Amino acid sequence: LIEIKFLPEDRWKEARELRLEALKTEPSAFGSSVEEEERLTEAEWRERTKNALVALSDGRLVGTITYIFSHRVKTKHVAYIYGFYVGPDYRGQGFGRKLLEAALKNIGENKSIVKVQLQANPKQEAAIALYKSAGFQVVGELKKEMKIGGEYHNELVMEKYLER
Ligand SMILES: CC(C)(COP(=O)(O)OP(=O)(O)OC[C@H]1O[C@@H](n2cnc3c(N)ncnc32)[C@H](O)[C@@H]1OP(=O)(O)O)[C@@H](O)C(=O)NCCC(=O)NCCS
Repeated sequence: LIEIKFLPEDRWKEARELRLEALKTEPSAFGSSVEEEERLTEAEWRERTKNALVALSDGRLVGTITYIFSHRVKTKHVAYIYGFYVGPDYRGQGFGRKLLEAALKNIGENKSIVKVQLQANPKQEAAIALYKSAGFQVVGELKKEMKIGGEYHNELVMEKYLER
């Protein structure tokens, strides 16, 4: 049984475990670091859990994606996607695509949103292929945007424009 939904806030420990696994195993895929997120409080994890769409396989948490809407006056037509991750044992089975489609569907229901933006390390080939097949295009490349273990990484900026 596959479910895509918001995880109940009281399952925040599972959300924390999956997120820390993501940051440990794929450090170059995310702007956040394990050191920063290991320090977050229970209240902060509960808040995050409420905002993350997850994929469940027979009740087990296997993937996650988060989207947010800008609340600033001049950018409230923009939505952002981040924190996209599927555990290695569950990749290549469509969980990622289902999560991304669900996020885009929810975003599309907010009629003020005109574009969706995200950043991706050019080395995350699976993620980039998936974003492109969902209608995202590369609009720019930020040079030396992240420094991880002494190595610099660029970040692609990708956008999808919604028809309104
Ligand atoms: C990106 C990620 C979430 C995709 O999850 P997934 O469940 O494996 O994705 P799916 O099984 O739904 O695959 C969907 C599409 O992704 C692409 N894809 C998946 N694995 C791929 C691979 N190894 N190489 C190239 N493309 C791949 C394909 O376009 C695939 O479509 P297809 O099945 O029609 O060929 C997962 O690979 C992941 O967690 N990667 C590490 C973290 C990361 O890069 N996050 C994104 C940060 S921007």
